[in-house]
Amino acid sequence: MKDASPIVSFQQINNAFSHESVMTRTHNEADAKTDDPIEAASKLAALGNALKVLETADAEARSKVLVAADHRVASLLQTYLAMKSSEEGKVEASAAGANEAKFDDKDVLGWIGSFFSWWKRLKPAKWLAAPPEPETIPNNPEDFRMAVLGDWGTGLYGAPLCAKSIEAEKNIAQDDKGYGVLMHLGDVYYSGDDHEVQKRFLDLWPKNPNTVSRAINANHEMYTGGHAYFKKILKGFKQPASYFALQNDHWLLVGLDSAYADKDLAKDQVGWLNNIIAKADKRKIIMFTHHQPFSWLEEQHPKMTGKLGQLLNSKKIFAWYWGHEHRCVIYDQHDAWGLHGRCVGHGGYPYFRKNWSELGAKKEDENWWQLGKKNFTPGGRVLDGSNQYIDGHDDPQRYGPQGYMTVEFRGKNLNEIVHAPDGTKLYEKQIA
Ligand SMILES: [Fe+2]
Repeated sequence: MKDASPIVSFQQINNAFSHESVMTRTHNEADAKTDDPIEAASKLAALGNALKVLETADAEARSKVLVAADHRVASLLQTYLAMKSSEEGKVEASAAGANEAKFDDKDVLGWIGSFFSWWKRLKPAKWLAAPPEPETIPNNPEDFRMAVLGDWGTGLYGAPLCAKSIEAEKNIAQDDKGYGVLMHLGDVYYSGDDHEVQKRFLDLWPKNPNTVSRAINANHEMYTGGHAYFKKILKGFKQPASYFALQNDHWLLVGLDSAYADKDLAKDQVGWLNNIIAKADKRKIIMFTHHQPFSWLEEQHPKMTGKLGQLLNSKKIFAWYWGHEHRCVIYDQHDAWGLHGRCVGHGGYPYFRKNWSELGAKKEDENWWQLGKKNFTPGGRVLDGSNQYIDGHDDPQRYGPQGYMTVEFRGKNLNEIVHAPDGTKLYEKQIA
């Protein structure tokens, strides 16, 4: 089977790399690709770390679902092994629409040298500067709906159905106006190369007519330098840069790039944003990033929020949507910053459920747990349940629900809906 975007499991990688001959060849190729012994040693150490990270992730998963780590070399290795397995037809159909790469030590002996060459050639894509003025939201700018998907770029599990439900919006819309804006909050697995961007993202992205699509840059896209993100996704979406602003008379939607510089705001995004906000009049501001400004369970990103300190402390941001963390959380309004935070990172990645009761949450209903306020992080509600789209791979009870959000703009009013992949409404609230 060729051209298959297969899953690359740790088990397959480990079986191949456990052979002495593969390790010896790996050492030799690392040395052969550079005159600098420090570079060779650091590449080997990074590869060793990659195997460790995948081992840990796999030990937790113990299943055949797609497992991706927030680790550049681990993701590069998976992308490369997927590509070579695909090219050579070493792919078998697996469950739930997925394919799995099936290679052995002899294959890796043949591929490891070119992996090092490929890795060495990867440099960050050229930064693109955004236009200084916001674009006007096209079509019916007063009254439009936006679909928000995060960490959706697996092409598997609930992800394709989310896209189909957005395309078939008339089935779930309150009216027939459809979506005006489609927003991806980032992450195309494993490392967003050309093939993965095409197969796991662009081929499946909803094709609603008269809609503007925008994509946020993310860590997995940047593992290969972001070339496919900058050249294929941005070009396909007619998006001028990895940060952007869209507005109408009441709302200013701003996407920022927190991945070109990891968990930071690269280049002059803050200066650009301040200029735009200075001219925003009474418009309410909504932010979109891949990384979280705060989290109930995961780390915070002080480089990013620090650069936005003045905006945050002056309560100028009305709402902020992000991904990266694979779950759906609707936070209460932030005490100090006044914003409505939403984590929408449950679009496509198969993530484990937490024991919310043990973590001190209180069950609200069959879909939601209530989170109390914790340190600087507001309380809120987190989506929980089983994941029927994992079926055939593993126990659906182990994995959390996937889905997407709709944000409805009606003049000054803003209404939020959380959907299951099939479009079913799981939550709805007007917040403005
Ligand atoms: Fe991420």
